[in-house]
Amino acid sequence: MTDDRERWALILGASSGMGEATSITLAKAGYKIAGIHLDFRAALAHVDEVKGAIEAAGSEALFINMNAADDEKRAAALVTLRERFDRSRAEGREPYVRVVMHSLAFGSLVPFLTDDPKGGVDRKKMEMTQDVMANSLVYWVQDLWRGGFLGQGSKIYAMTSEGSTRVVPSYGVVSSAKAALESHIRQLAMELARNNTGATANCIRAGVTVTPALLKIPESQTMIDITMKRNPTGRMTTPQDVANAILALSGDGTEFINGDIISVDGGEYITGS
Ligand SMILES: NC(=O)c1ccc[n+]([C@@H]2O[C@H](COP(=O)([O-])OP(=O)(O)OC[C@H]3O[C@@H](n4cnc5c(N)ncnc54)[C@H](O)[C@@H]3O)[C@@H](O)[C@H]2O)c1
Repeated sequence: MTDDRERWALILGASSGMGEATSITLAKAGYKIAGIHLDFRAALAHVDEVKGAIEAAGSEALFINMNAADDEKRAAALVTLRERFDRSRAEGREPYVRVVMHSLAFGSLVPFLTDDPKGGVDRKKMEMTQDVMANSLVYWVQDLWRGGFLGQGSKIYAMTSEGSTRVVPSYGVVSSAKAALESHIRQLAMELARNNTGATANCIRAGVTVTPALLKIPESQTMIDITMKRNPTGRMTTPQDVANAILALSGDGTEFINGDIISVDGGEYITGS
């Protein structure tokens, strides 16, 4: 059965890295893109480039610069999306959010035990990281579901990393957020199925990928060196690898892939050394 509905992708973290590549790739495949991002000053020129690439693909870029973990801003963003959907409906089309991608990188990269409390994690840093990198997924999906944005065949993806089950000195706070994110996806997958939504939820576990977020990790160069030796393909994962996988997984016939963690890493995760 062909799907003649108007396909939208809601990309949380659309202006860089995995979210950017996926936005442009899905736009080329006919999706319209609603992009949420948080950028200031110098970075805004790049946001315009991303929007330009989406529009050059013949698609539409509805981008909103906001903190994705802010409840009021999320509500306002969904009002904007609803108004855009209403316009499509008035023109006789049937829009729905086919793809939701949670690709937010905004975490505290500090250890737990430091002599100077200022250099280590505290309640604010812990909760902010958990809120943006894990819990915000749940609140977005709740509102999308309650608001009728999802439909048969909708796919929800959350970006996780091997760091959810490994220790790296500065990654402890983000690691705990990734563990929570994976748990949230399992719960959402089960509830989406039990509610007969026709939507699924999975984690994408990307290999180590050179992006602005990776380069902020103090141990990033060591991680790159190890990955280049360890990845059996002899190269690192790219944002385009992730985008290609999400496009393929979002095609027809994948409705029974639910609640899983899908590696997109060329076999990096299974390779010990
Ligand atoms: N780079 C890697 O090696 C790697 C590997 C596995 C998983 N991941 C995960 O993939 C996801 C994307 O990472 P990336 O490397 O593409 O990062 P990136 O820095 O290239 O992009 C991050 C995006 O998140 C947006 N963002 C950050 N905080 C936000 C907030 N509070 N509200 C709205 N937007 C916000 C930024 O504007 C940007 O668009 C992250 O969850 C990351 O942990 C990354």
